[in-house]
Amino acid sequence: MSSQEKKQRAGRNRTIELTQDDRVRLRPRLLTLSSLNELDTPPQSTVLGDAVQAASRLPTGFVDLMILDPPYNLTKSFNGRKFTKCPVDEYATWLDGVVGAFRHLLKPTATVYVCGDWLTSASIFNVCSAHFIVRNRITWEREKGRGAQANWKNCSEDIWFCTCSDNYTFNVDAVKLRRKVIAPYRHDDGSPKDWMQESGGNFRDTHPSNLWTDISVPFWSMPENTDHPTQKAEKLIAKLVLASTNLGDFVFDPFLGSGTTSVVAKKLGRRYLGIELDEEFCLLAERRLELAESRNEIQGFADGVFWERNTLSIQQRHVSGNGRPPAERLLFSDATEGANGDDPE
Ligand SMILES: C[S@@+](CC[C@H](N)C(=O)[O-])C[C@H]1O[C@@H](n2cnc3c(N)ncnc32)[C@H](O)[C@@H]1O
Repeated sequence: MSSQEKKQRAGRNRTIELTQDDRVRLRPRLLTLSSLNELDTPPQSTVLGDAVQAASRLPTGFVDLMILDPPYNLTKSFNGRKFTKCPVDEYATWLDGVVGAFRHLLKPTATVYVCGDWLTSASIFNVCSAHFIVRNRITWEREKGRGAQANWKNCSEDIWFCTCSDNYTFNVDAVKLRRKVIAPYRHDDGSPKDWMQESGGNFRDTHPSNLWTDISVPFWSMPENTDHPTQKAEKLIAKLVLASTNLGDFVFDPFLGSGTTSVVAKKLGRRYLGIELDEEFCLLAERRLELAESRNEIQGFADGVFWERNTLSIQQRHVSGNGRPPAERLLFSDATEGANGDDPE
């Protein structure tokens, strides 16, 4: 079935789809490579075209945060365009060309995150070390996919954290994780030590670590879901944006896919620019940006903190128990729980 034909979906399926009207309405919003030549200031938009070709047509030094989520070294089709697995050295050479092409767009204070799996991580560390200061590797649990018969099931991905200099933004308080406290300590007077006693349970806001087990890969009942084969969760991108930028900063994603980075940047009051080779994905990104004009919630981020997976009912109790305003309650009613109360994967 072509991506332009409508799929049959179950009633509760909330996958974002494009209609023909959407395509006609949104197409004029896309920038082409040739239109970039006429711009003096960085556009806040989606560019349809090859990212490396676009890079040489963009102004220098405007990016505060670059998120690189390139095709991994797997044979995979992106709406009919095939990326073919190649030897590790070849992938590293390709990635080096990509990173080098974008280097002049970055401010001296910029942060760069590069996504990969266990195999591409081998190339990412070497390539990024040549261009940036590599500061950390975040590993996130990717609870999806089939098991292997003669190998360990691949259940994790990496995000490499790099900066252009020692002068960079890191808002640690903006990315705390609210965790349930299992064995709460108390002061001598009985009051909670470093944790909060709430109607929905006991919680502590913990420092963000480089091991993330709270990310759900978008699935059919999540309002952010699309048919893009490797869509990242808004929650995951929100952590990167909140930690490494301030309001009004410029976020750049040259492998935009379904638009997650631009959408999250918009929801969090940052400027954004994305580039994507495939027109259908560009239009999906624009549709999501359009939807974000009236709905700026990010699933799993509420009350100024990130929440562990499978805590939806606790979040709801906590929020209503605290008498939060209706807008925030709406945010929680947005997510769908599985039959056993868990977020379905
Ligand atoms: C791993 S996906 C990114 C997914 C994205 N983070 C999201 O949340 O949807 C990589 C994307 O890069 C696009 N792409 C591949 N080569 C490209 C190129 N040379 N220029 C621009 N986009 C490219 C693919 O079409 C694909 O959508």
